[in-house]
Amino acid sequence: MEKKVLAPEIIMIKVNAPLIASKHKPGQFVIIRMHEKGERIPMTVADSNISEGSLTIVFLKVGKTTKELDTLNEGDYIVNVVGPLGKPTEIRNFGNVVCIGGGVGISDIYPIARALHQKKNRVTSIIGARTAGLLIFENDIRNVSDKFYITTDDGSKGHHGFVTDVLRKLLEEKKRIDYVIAVGPTIMMKVVSEITKPYGVKTVVSLNSLMVDGTGMCGVCRVEVGDETKFACVDGPEFDAHEVNFDLLMKRLNMYKEEEKISLQRFENRKN
Ligand code: FAD
Ligand code: FES
Ligand code: MG
Repeated sequence: MEKKVLAPEIIMIKVNAPLIASKHKPGQFVIIRMHEKGERIPMTVADSNISEGSLTIVFLKVGKTTKELDTLNEGDYIVNVVGPLGKPTEIRNFGNVVCIGGGVGISDIYPIARALHQKKNRVTSIIGARTAGLLIFENDIRNVSDKFYITTDDGSKGHHGFVTDVLRKLLEEKKRIDYVIAVGPTIMMKVVSEITKPYGVKTVVSLNSLMVDGTGMCGVCRVEVGDETKFACVDGPEFDAHEVNFDLLMKRLNMYKEEEKISLQRFENRKN
């Protein structure tokens, strides 16, 4: 395993997993288990390198398992990496596409923007973070975009505000947009969906529902899409944003907050 700190709390690791690397496509993810007693956590494959046999994963330290993952150092092993899971992103020529990445989701939008660019789409990318220091993959994304916008919540770089402000402006200015894809915090994806819906612009989001097995068996990742119940791990993680019940998704993401807090406290106490 190789490791690099990209920004405060954002870590990039390169894991040697040649079989997964040879099959991975943009939009897919893996499920990691650090050790025999560890929980299983889904992580998007930000990039793969077939000749090296490696996967790149970018994660934000939010709780017990991601903080524990950060205790690993170069040369260490992860006990289980299962994948590639989920359906790949639909990559074809849509015309004028807008790729939106928020927070750690910026790392996931990069391979998608790159693949859409290779298919000769006209790519507009909008990436946003809380503050300039948390912007990642800035040059990589700029290089595969025809138009490129940055936003920060605190105004330290680019537009002072949200990625959704830029998207709204482009639509209000009647810029031609055929397709929008957004990866980031659930609330960001919900707002993106609300903005594009009245304009009838096809919009796809990558859902970050709770997952355990990642193979359609446990039902933890269930989401409501249209009138149907779908499993994000096998039917997604990407769905038509205008059909997703985001409020239910957000409620389900907070289901185990108390247990997660206790688990983190125990982990930090053990460390001290
Ligand atoms: P906890 O304190 O346990 O949880 C913090 C929050 O993370 C929870 O409130 C919940 O919203 C979410 N979460 C917790 N457990 C899970 C779980 N088993 N499955 C999904 N979400 C969970 N994060 C990244 O930083 N980088 C990625 O590339 C990335 N890709 C993802 C791809 C998919 C398909 C999904 C579903 C999630 C992805 N996530 C990614 C989110 C990541 O899985 C969670 O941040 C992680 O599981 C949190 O674990 P924790 O123990 O550190 O934090
Ligand atoms: Fe278990 Fe999707 S994670 S069914
Ligand atoms: Mg956890």
